[in-house]
Amino acid sequence: MKILKYLKIINLFLIKFIFILFLAPNVLFAAGDTIDIPKNDWSFSGLFGTFDRSAQQRGLQVYKEVCSGCHGMRLIAYRNLKALGYNDAEVKAFAADNEITDGPNDDGEMFERPARPSDKFASPYPNEQAARVANGGAYPPDLSLIVKARVGGADYIHALLSGYRDAPKSKNVPDGMYYNIYYPGNLIGMPQPLYEEGVDYADGTKATEEQMSKDVSAFLAWASEPELEERKKLGISVICFLLVLTILSYFAMKQIWAPIKRRNQNIS
Ligand code: HEC
Repeated sequence: MKILKYLKIINLFLIKFIFILFLAPNVLFAAGDTIDIPKNDWSFSGLFGTFDRSAQQRGLQVYKEVCSGCHGMRLIAYRNLKALGYNDAEVKAFAADNEITDGPNDDGEMFERPARPSDKFASPYPNEQAARVANGGAYPPDLSLIVKARVGGADYIHALLSGYRDAPKSKNVPDGMYYNIYYPGNLIGMPQPLYEEGVDYADGTKATEEQMSKDVSAFLAWASEPELEERKKLGISVICFLLVLTILSYFAMKQIWAPIKRRNQNIS
């Protein structure tokens, strides 16, 4: 009987714990005026999700032709692009299209040279100050980890890129600012970057605004977490291992307790 009482107490604690952990945040913070970000069906979401190589390659093209004019990706090296399905020669050619500042040389001077696969992505500006001056005071953040750095991840990036609208009459939009329904405060220093047919896709896909925005978001999701596929694979094997272990320990437990059970039956 005592055990039952203890069990009841433990149960109550468990219920409270689950409530605090999973349910309370939704109830307590539901009243805040958060912006509703539409959810998308990404190839990489879910337990078994993997990256879609062709979407990523298109995303890289959008980054290269549109975003890289203002945003750097200083944590990604050109050779990392092999993960997107490119071979050595393609990576080499892609890198060589970019100029990197290297040095100092024997005369103590910095010099420009074509990038090599081992170089990190070339930055559009030499420093933050230069970036701000070129963008009316706003700083275009590095995009290497942006999907991890923003609530909503890839869904937010996709929403932001397709969230430019005409401002309502009541909203005053200062020069150099743009109205975006998904940016906190609605005024962003980034002009709308994507327009229909903004790029000419190498694989012939039609470059709608929606398509480009989704592709570049998928590419940025990979950049933020290149080990996603490995992580999921490991997770699945760990779950399988634990499942087998649970079954084995159940039968081991039965075997160990069998003589004791038999003895108890003989006593009663
Ligand atoms: C003309 C320059 C320019 C181009 C091109 C551009 N951006 Fe930006 N971007 C900016 C600036 C400036 C900011 C900072 C805005 C601010 O702080 O108000 C910014 C901010 C952002 C942010 C951060 C928003 C946040 O929540 O803080 C993301 C994400 C972003 N850009 C993604 C992109 C992507 C993806 C592309 C390519 C499709 C792109 N940008 C193209 C200038 C640019």
